[in-house]
Amino acid sequence: MAILEAKDLSKTYKQGALEVKALTDLTLAVEAGEFIAIMGASGSGKSTLLNILGGLDAAGSGKLAIDGQDLGKRRDSELTKLRRQRIGFIFQSFNLIPVLTALENVALPLLIDGVKAGEANARAAEMLAVVGIKDRAAHFPDALSGGEQQRTAVARALVTEPAIILADEPTGNLDSVNSEEVMSLLKRAVVERGRTIVMVTHDPKDAAYSDRIVFLKDGRVVDEVAGVGTDVSAIMKRLAR
Ligand SMILES: Nc1ncnc2c1ncn2[C@@H]1O[C@H](COP(=O)(O)OP(=O)(O)OP(=O)(O)O)[C@@H](O)[C@H]1O
Ligand SMILES: [Mg+2]
Repeated sequence: MAILEAKDLSKTYKQGALEVKALTDLTLAVEAGEFIAIMGASGSGKSTLLNILGGLDAAGSGKLAIDGQDLGKRRDSELTKLRRQRIGFIFQSFNLIPVLTALENVALPLLIDGVKAGEANARAAEMLAVVGIKDRAAHFPDALSGGEQQRTAVARALVTEPAIILADEPTGNLDSVNSEEVMSLLKRAVVERGRTIVMVTHDPKDAAYSDRIVFLKDGRVVDEVAGVGTDVSAIMKRLAR
């Protein structure tokens, strides 16, 4: 059974008289433990898809299910809870809270879940060690490098042990060394912890870490290829189609 299933998703944005069709009858099934990369030109609907999968945005029509449970049939309060328990987000711009230290940023989702402060801090510290920045725990985001900020954001996404991680261009603001480090952290989350990842990326090198690359064009799935084992130039060629 798919852990995440979207069927015939459509989404139209209205801006005054202008209508933009961001997604058109998009269908995608993600298996548990799968690492999927979503690629496609700017404006092809990648972020819209990810935001809908994670419940940050609502689809105009279509069906969405997590663990086979139809989300359309859930109440808002139940949806919020399910999302918090099952999904972790990583964004291109890190989205850390500036007035909290790295440790506090990572501990926050646990505190929201009702974990006691002592345990939340201990688990956050452990997770900062996993991503290799335990000595930066007391730093505020503006005193962290871009790579360290994104590693903090990865720790924050992983700390609640969500089954599904949604990442929108997680290496978009990183240099190549930090990109590789973040990608290998994500890969390890899949291989060692059995997480499921759906990651939007422009970078064929990032996509090559995935199990499957799904190509979007004009809000539709137009192509699919294996990630690992497909070389970067072949990915670029498909992207250019
Ligand atoms: N809030 C919004 N209001 C109006 N139109 C929007 C909104 N968000 C996205 N769009 C439009 O929907 C389409 C898909 O946008 P989306 O952000 O999903 O693209 P993307 O594939 O993530 O692009 P990029 O690679 O540039 O991030 C675009 O044409 C965009 O202009
Ligand atoms: Mg986007």
